Amino acid sequence: MARGRGKARSIWVCQRCGFETPGYYGRCPSCDAWGSLVEAMVPSRDSGSLRPSRSAAAPARPLTEVSSAAEARLAISIGELNRVLGGGLVPGSLVLLGGDPGIGKSTLLLQAAVVLASSAGSALYVAAEESAEQVKLRADRLGVAGDGLYVLAETCLDAVLEVAEQLQPAVLVVDSIQTVYQEALESSPGSVSQVRECTAQLMRYAKRSGVPVFIVGHVTKEGMIAGPRVVEHMVDTVLYLEGERFQQYRILRAVKNRFGSTEEVGVFEMGEGGMREIRNPSETFVGERAQGTPGSAIVVTLEGTRPILIEVQALTSPAGSGMPRRTVTGFDLNRLQMLLAVLAKRAGVRLGDHDVFVNVAGGLRVVEPAADLGVALAIASSARDVPVDPHTVLIGEVGLSGELRGVRGLERRLQEAARLGFRRAVIPVRSPNGAVIHSPMEVILAKTLGEAIERALSWRGPAAEQASGRVRG
Ligand code: TYD
Ligand code: MG
Repeated sequence: MARGRGKARSIWVCQRCGFETPGYYGRCPSCDAWGSLVEAMVPSRDSGSLRPSRSAAAPARPLTEVSSAAEARLAISIGELNRVLGGGLVPGSLVLLGGDPGIGKSTLLLQAAVVLASSAGSALYVAAEESAEQVKLRADRLGVAGDGLYVLAETCLDAVLEVAEQLQPAVLVVDSIQTVYQEALESSPGSVSQVRECTAQLMRYAKRSGVPVFIVGHVTKEGMIAGPRVVEHMVDTVLYLEGERFQQYRILRAVKNRFGSTEEVGVFEMGEGGMREIRNPSETFVGERAQGTPGSAIVVTLEGTRPILIEVQALTSPAGSGMPRRTVTGFDLNRLQMLLAVLAKRAGVRLGDHDVFVNVAGGLRVVEPAADLGVALAIASSARDVPVDPHTVLIGEVGLSGELRGVRGLERRLQEAARLGFRRAVIPVRSPNGAVIHSPMEVILAKTLGEAIERALSWRGPAAEQASGRVRG
C-alpha cells in the first residue's frame, strides 16, 4: 500500500464535538470550546491510498423493490442491549460504544460477542488493549466457555481485517479504536488521524462484508488521545455506557441511531459475573430505599417509552462559616440552584445558610425536568425534617414562578407507579393537551410547588412560621 507521505493533507478537528475545518481556529466555530482543535492528517483526495476504489456504478433501484432491513436484524440475547440498538443488530452496521475507562465497555461487548457467537456462528473479538489471556480471564470471570468466539490480540488494523476476511465472523468487536492503527498513516495510535481513518476503514469493511462491527471508544479528558466524539458523525449508531464507577448500576443510552430511536435506554448492574440486565429497573431502584426517613422522594422519569421510578435523596444542614455548599450526584447543579431559589422565594423554604446535598440513588443520573418536583420535595422534606409519604410519587416540572408544569407521558408514568404499589401521585394541574387523567391511584393535582409541598408532606405548620420561612432541621 502506498505510504501517505506527500499525499496527505492536514485538517483541524475539534476534540469536543468532531467539527472539521481546513484552517485553524482558537475557538471551535461549532461548539465554542477554546483550544479544542487538533491537527489531523488525512489522505489527499487524489492519493487514493486509503479511499475505496470506485466500483462499477450501482444502478438506481425503485424504492418498492428495496427490501426493508428490519427483518434481517441479528437479535442479541441480551435484551437491554437489543432494545437500545432498536431491536437487534443491523447487518453491516458500525456501532460505537463510548464511556469512561473502567465503566464496563469491554465486559459488555465480550458478553455480546459470546452470545452472538453461540447464536449466529462465530464472533471475532479484537483485543487491542489486552492480551488474549486477559480476555480469557475475563471470560472465566463471566463464567462463559465462549464457543465460536475468536480472540485476536492485535493492534494493526490491516492485520485485523485480513483475519476478519478469512474468518467471516457473524460480528466483529474492536476494543478499542484508540489502540488500533493503520500502517499507511504515520501518526501514532489514538491520534485524531488514526482514530478517524481506522473508523472509516472499519465502516467500509462493515458495508462491504455485511458484518456488523462494534468499536469501543474511551471518553478522554482533552489531550493526546482522541475521544469518541471525533468519529460520532461517521458511524451508524453511537451508544454511551454511563454510571458512577463505584456504584453498581449502568445505563446504556443511544445518542445516535440510523436504525432506530435514540430514546430507549438499557439498564444493567455490574457485578461479579459481569453486566446483569435489569429488566424491571423501577422495582430494583425503589426496592432499596429506607422508608419513612426525611429527605427521600420518589420521582418517575420517562426514558424513551419506559417509565423508571427513582429515589432522590436530599440532605440539608446548617452551614458553618463561609459559603454554604451545594453538592449534587446524578443531578444538574444549575438546576438545583434554580430549585433552591424557587423554594426560597415561592414556597418559603429558605436554605441560604444551609448546605444542601442532592443524591440520585444507585449512581443514576436524572436530567428530565419532570424530576424537579421530586427533587424540590426531597429538599423540603429534609429541611422540615418531615418524611414524604412513602406511598406517594412526585411528577412535575417546576417553573420560575413556582408553578408546576405538565410533563409528557403522564399516564404511562402513573401506570408504572401504580404497578409498583404506590397509592398517591402529586402531579401538575395543567397536563399537556388537557387530557383527563385515568389512574387507579389517588391523584393529587397541585398548581404550585408550595401546594405540592403541603400535600406531600402533609405538614401543617403554623401559618406564621411558614410565612417567616423559618426552617427546622
Ligand atoms: P471493563 O469492562 O474492563 O471496563 P472498560 O472496558 O469500560 O474500561 O470493566 C472494568 C471494571 O469492571 C473493572 O474495575 C472490573 C469490573 N468488573 C466487574 O465488576 N465484574 C466483572 O465481571 C468484570 C469482568 C469486571
Ligand atoms: Mg476495556
